[in-house]
Amino acid sequence: MGCEGYSAIARVYDRLGAEIDYEGWASFAEACFDRFLPARPKLVLDLACGTGRMTRALAARGYDMIGVDGSAEMLSEACALPHDGILYLMQDLRSFELYGTVGAVTCCLDSINYLLTEQDLHACFSLVHNYLDPGGLFFFDVNTPFKFATVYGQNAYILEDELTDGDGTRSVYCGWQNDYSPETGICDFELSLFEQLPSGDYRRSDEHQQERCYSLDILQRTLCSAGLEPLGVFSDFQFSAPTETSERWYLCAKAVKAPAANCAVLP
Ligand SMILES: C[S@@+](CC[C@H](N)C(=O)[O-])C[C@H]1O[C@@H](n2cnc3c(N)ncnc32)[C@H](O)[C@@H]1O
Repeated sequence: MGCEGYSAIARVYDRLGAEIDYEGWASFAEACFDRFLPARPKLVLDLACGTGRMTRALAARGYDMIGVDGSAEMLSEACALPHDGILYLMQDLRSFELYGTVGAVTCCLDSINYLLTEQDLHACFSLVHNYLDPGGLFFFDVNTPFKFATVYGQNAYILEDELTDGDGTRSVYCGWQNDYSPETGICDFELSLFEQLPSGDYRRSDEHQQERCYSLDILQRTLCSAGLEPLGVFSDFQFSAPTETSERWYLCAKAVKAPAANCAVLP
């Protein structure tokens, strides 16, 4: 099993996302643990951990970490860095298996949007429920319908950066064309990566990724049917309520004994 769409990008993922504030993400995840758990979790699963930046940020705060991702290339980037106290597993979000339960599960940077059907979403949430201690916390985020419609839409973007290694400093460009269909809720991303080689020539790699837009209603109902009770939906790291123009929703849910018929969906 492999996770396509992150083969070439894995080499430059951390560089192109250098400005992403993973310490802020880790602080907010901890704030959610504090708010919704009776005690600090010891073992945390970081689902779709990618190159492990969030996994390492949480490990540095003293949590024992498991990182699960479906991309061998993203995991090799993670494993190339010191990872004492972190167990990385190459597994699919829809079928992963752990040795036991964990106190909390994180899944960051819209990784849940990579699940393209409600069945896949349910399979993933059911496994999260399965591997969470009773009362354990699931913290994840998604891109909102507003972001799919306005930021992605049919727009094209280019990211430009420089890579420095033993061969000097070279340019890297990543361009992507979006094609979002409101009918299917699927957004296709055609990515082209141009990496300057030591010779000065450029190597081009093309990748295709897809994300699915989910309404809050579907997310919460799927959580409920998987035995995860929604506890809150926020639009930033200060626990603010979402607005119509929020680009990201942060959700917290707790594992309950069994899928509850009366599980409350938040307004
Ligand atoms: C946007 S990246 C986020 C990575 C990481 N969470 C971060 O914050 O940097 C999405 C990740 O989801 C992983 N992914 C997507 N679909 C997956 C699936 N079905 N099973 C496992 N991993 C998947 C990709 O390999 C990629 O590493």
